[in-house]
Amino acid sequence: VSAHEYPVGYGDHVKSLFSRRTAEVQAAFLLPYIRAGMQLLDCGCGFGHLTLDFANLVGDDGRVVGIDVEASPLQGARRATKERGLRNVTFQQANIYELPFDDNAFDVAFSNAVLCHLSDPLKALGELRRVVKPGGTVGCRDMDIGGHIIHPETQIIRKGLDLRQRAIAFLGNNYRIGRELRGLFLESGFRDVLASATCECMGEQDTLDHTCEYLAKQWDLAPFARVVIEQGWATPQEVAELRQAFLDFPRQAGAFDAYVWCQCVGTVP
Ligand SMILES: C[S@@+](CC[C@H](N)C(=O)[O-])C[C@H]1O[C@@H](n2cnc3c(N)ncnc32)[C@H](O)[C@@H]1O
Repeated sequence: VSAHEYPVGYGDHVKSLFSRRTAEVQAAFLLPYIRAGMQLLDCGCGFGHLTLDFANLVGDDGRVVGIDVEASPLQGARRATKERGLRNVTFQQANIYELPFDDNAFDVAFSNAVLCHLSDPLKALGELRRVVKPGGTVGCRDMDIGGHIIHPETQIIRKGLDLRQRAIAFLGNNYRIGRELRGLFLESGFRDVLASATCECMGEQDTLDHTCEYLAKQWDLAPFARVVIEQGWATPQEVAELRQAFLDFPRQAGAFDAYVWCQCVGTVP
């Protein structure tokens, strides 16, 4: 998979949405497996918000490496590392399919919202397994749009979500991979496989405004929006209307939005 198939892009609005992510929430399922002094790999780390949280968790005797296939978000990650004065974290441009690390180099490997963008998630899991020591832990988390609730589900919002999903799938991404994680981990040969799910809720004005502003900007900026127009699934005028509908959504009476995220951990045999 190459970066051009990544449907979301790396704009400031993406960075702003991801900056609200914390290891405490997004990696809660993995925290029981992380201890001070460990070597941890964050694959597809993007702007590195979770990576930097992991650096605090493993402490000065530990080490965290963040890798991403795209160079641009890593620049911001390196700046944030300096600003926070962290010395146990590094960022490297690399592909999850060909990790530039020796076998058994890490205690824990993690990915958040990455397997859904890959055409061969099993191959990626094989690489995560290779670079983690026997007895170490691999944990992956991805959303599953089958568990999406949005209210009120007006016709135009439904149309926008369907077109977005169609374009994302067209670009080779699988936003229903959450439910497959347990099977993928078992097929990869992990033991003690444990799958679970959590719900991310936009249940107050601030998170609704922030998320919907992001979704609206996506209709201007994200690679998937270009696909919708290029494929003739909607006109530029219709796309502009979709953009406006997402901007207006938080002011609908009783607006509420919730997504299911699935996660899985396994032990390297
Ligand atoms: C949705 S973002 C998630 C970023 C970060 N994990 C977070 O939760 O904030 C997905 C990231 O995966 C990266 N990615 C996609 N394909 C990749 C690959 N083959 N190898 C490494 N990273 C990849 C993208 O460049 C992007 O930064």
